[in-house]
Amino acid sequence: MDFSHVEADLAKTLITEEELHAKLQELAREIEADYEGKDLLLVGVLRGAVMVMADLARALQRHIEMDWMAVSSYGSGTVSSGVVRILKDLDSDLTGRNVLIVEDIIDSGLTLSWLRANLESRGAASVEICTMLRKPDALKVQVDVKYCGFDIPNEFVIGYGLDYAEKYRNLRGIGVLAPHVYSGE
Ligand code: IMP
Ligand code: MG
Repeated sequence: MDFSHVEADLAKTLITEEELHAKLQELAREIEADYEGKDLLLVGVLRGAVMVMADLARALQRHIEMDWMAVSSYGSGTVSSGVVRILKDLDSDLTGRNVLIVEDIIDSGLTLSWLRANLESRGAASVEICTMLRKPDALKVQVDVKYCGFDIPNEFVIGYGLDYAEKYRNLRGIGVLAPHVYSGE
C-alpha cells in the first residue's frame, strides 16, 4: 500500500520505500563483511520484522538461515509495558550459532534486551541485533545494537511491518501516525 491510501491518517511521511531499501543494502554489506566465513542465523521477531527480514535476507549475497520468534510486549496500545511473553519460540537449536536478531523498531529497548539475554542463555556463539528503526529518546534500558537503519524521533510510527491495532503493516514506507487516529484510546 502506498502513502496516498493513508494520507488522512498520517501526521507526516518519515521514510520512503526507496530510502529503506538503500539503507538495507548498506547494512547488508556490513553484515556480509562482519560474518565472512561464519554461519549466520537470522531471527526475526514477529510480526513487525517480517518486511525487514524479507528485504534484508534478499539483500544479503550469501547463505543464511531464518527462524522466527513471536513475543508480545503490549497489545494494541502505543506505550510499552515492559512485560514480555513468548508467543512462538524458535525451531532452531542455537548452540554454537551466530544469531542476528532482526527487528523493526527499538522503542524502550525492553523487548530486545530481554530477548538478547534469552537467546544468549541458549548457548549461541554470538547474538547481535539489527533494527530498522530506533527511538533514542524512548530508551529505558541500554541495548547494544550492531546494525541500525535510522534513528527517529519519539513518535508513534507505522508502516513497513509496524502496525497500529494490526493495521498499516503493508504500507511500503514509514509514517508518523496522526494523533486523531489513536486519541480515542
Ligand atoms: P520496546 O520493547 O519498547 O523496545 O518495543 C518493542 C515493540 O513495540 C516493537 O517491536 C514494536 O512492535 C512495538 N513498537 C514500539 N514503538 C512502535 C511504534 O512507534 N509503532 C509501532 N510499533 C511500535
Ligand atoms: Mg516488533
